Amino acid sequence: MQRVLSLQMTRNIGESSEYVTKRLCFSFLFSVGFLCLLCGFLLGRFTVERSLEAQAQKIRSELAGNGLQNTEYLQEILLQELERASLDYDRTTNRQTSDEDMRRISGLFSNLSLIHKVYNHAPCIHATVRGSREPDRYVILSVNEDSITLALELAQVLDKICSGHNWRPRRSLIFCMSFTSSDICPQALPTFIWRRAVAYVTVHGRFMRANNHAVLFGSDIIRSIAVEAIRTIPGDNNWTYLEHEVFGPRLSLDIPQVIFSFNDNSPANNHHNQNSRLHDITLAQMVGQTIWRLSECTVTQWKPKYFNETVNEILESINTSRFQDAKEKLKKTLRILLTAVEELNAEIDMTDDIQMLHMRIWNDLLLDLDKALLCPDRIDSHSRTDLATFRKLSHDSINESTILAYLDQMTKCFEDAIEILQER
Ligand SMILES: *[C@@H]1O[C@H](CO)[C@@H](O)[C@H](O)[C@H]1NC(C)=O
Ligand SMILES: *[C@@H]1O[C@H](CO)[C@@H](O)[C@H](O)[C@H]1NC(C)=O
Ligand SMILES: *[C@@H]1O[C@H](CO)[C@@H](O)[C@H](O)[C@H]1NC(C)=O
Ligand SMILES: *[C@@H]1O[C@H](CO)[C@@H](O)[C@H](O)[C@H]1NC(C)=O
Ligand SMILES: *[C@@H]1O[C@H](CO)[C@@H](O)[C@H](O)[C@H]1NC(C)=O
Repeated sequence: MQRVLSLQMTRNIGESSEYVTKRLCFSFLFSVGFLCLLCGFLLGRFTVERSLEAQAQKIRSELAGNGLQNTEYLQEILLQELERASLDYDRTTNRQTSDEDMRRISGLFSNLSLIHKVYNHAPCIHATVRGSREPDRYVILSVNEDSITLALELAQVLDKICSGHNWRPRRSLIFCMSFTSSDICPQALPTFIWRRAVAYVTVHGRFMRANNHAVLFGSDIIRSIAVEAIRTIPGDNNWTYLEHEVFGPRLSLDIPQVIFSFNDNSPANNHHNQNSRLHDITLAQMVGQTIWRLSECTVTQWKPKYFNETVNEILESINTSRFQDAKEKLKKTLRILLTAVEELNAEIDMTDDIQMLHMRIWNDLLLDLDKALLCPDRIDSHSRTDLATFRKLSHDSINESTILAYLDQMTKCFEDAIEILQER
């Protein structure tokens, strides 16, 4: 009985051990397969993570310093090349017939590989450079007379940087040239471009007779960005551009804008001397640096220090007690506005650069804000917050109701700007 039992057991054991071996074998195979899969998956994830991380790192370095740090050396090349620029006004536009000039300039622009397309709407030409990251956002440089030479020189230098260093601007650029004594770009450029314009930069007139007083005026945000850009130009260029704003009127355009202006009242006979060449180069560098920053920076962040100072200064200059209430109201609104801008800046600083969508949202917000501060009239687009106009009014006009109305209007415009910031 015991033998039978033990035999049974042995057989059982034998059977089951055979069975176990098969099972072991299968499960071993399955385990190996599973481990392989797991390893593969983990390895894959690791590689993907690594490459994502590397990509984020690359974008981060590209966007360091508000998108300007990575290409700082190119910016220096731009300034150096402009220093060597010939800026030969007579050769570029010989002023025989504007048709001839236009054909020549148009040909010169078409020959640059940087230029995407040249459009000819006589008497105006515009050449476009397509942006690499934000091709649907435009920085427009509008020129006429002498500054056509400047625009051409700038385009040629940028073209060199483009072919030599494989660089493209972040946003699209438009060189708009009016072959008339006034700026006709606003009529020549198509409407869709205006809707997507980040900034309208203008240099007008015959600046070869300029003395060294360049002033910048325009909309609050874009002007302050231009001033910041100019401050980064190394060397002691003797222009008094940052001295307290000698205002000129804003353009009647509902586009963020900066206007380079200069006194051209010095005698005509000094235009080829060394000093004037120095001025021309400095002006070209200022324009170049401004265009570069407007097209390259990731966020067009606004530091409202100058804005605050100038508004306060202008308000201080009217000391009639009649305006006290309106002035106080405006100052109060200004304080709220500045606090809201501070909060916005803090939020922008906290946003990770690589969140491109966020950057776009901030830029659109700042564009809206600049337009609100510009506060263009619905009928003729003249700015209703133009301190130059206001200063003139407060000096000339004896009609106090006009001044009061202007102050009220400015307060309303600032309130709209605050609303834009609160709505975000
Ligand atoms: C444009 O380039 C072509 C060939 O490179 C040259 O023949 C032509 O003269 C150039 N045109 C201008 C206006 O410089
Ligand atoms: C700057 O201007 C002052 C007078 O305005 C002049 O004395 C000085 O030599 C100028 N400096 C340079 C570097 O041109
Ligand atoms: C704005 O300017 C006024 C007077 O100049 C000053 O008291 C105030 O602190 C400034 N505000 C900001 C936010 O800079
Ligand atoms: C306003 O201030 C200016 C100087 O800042 C002074 O010359 C003028 O008399 C003042 N006007 C009034 C009405 O107080
Ligand atoms: C001031 O201007 C307003 C409108 O511009 C006009 O209605 C008013 O009569 C003027 N007042 C004086 C005193 O000229």
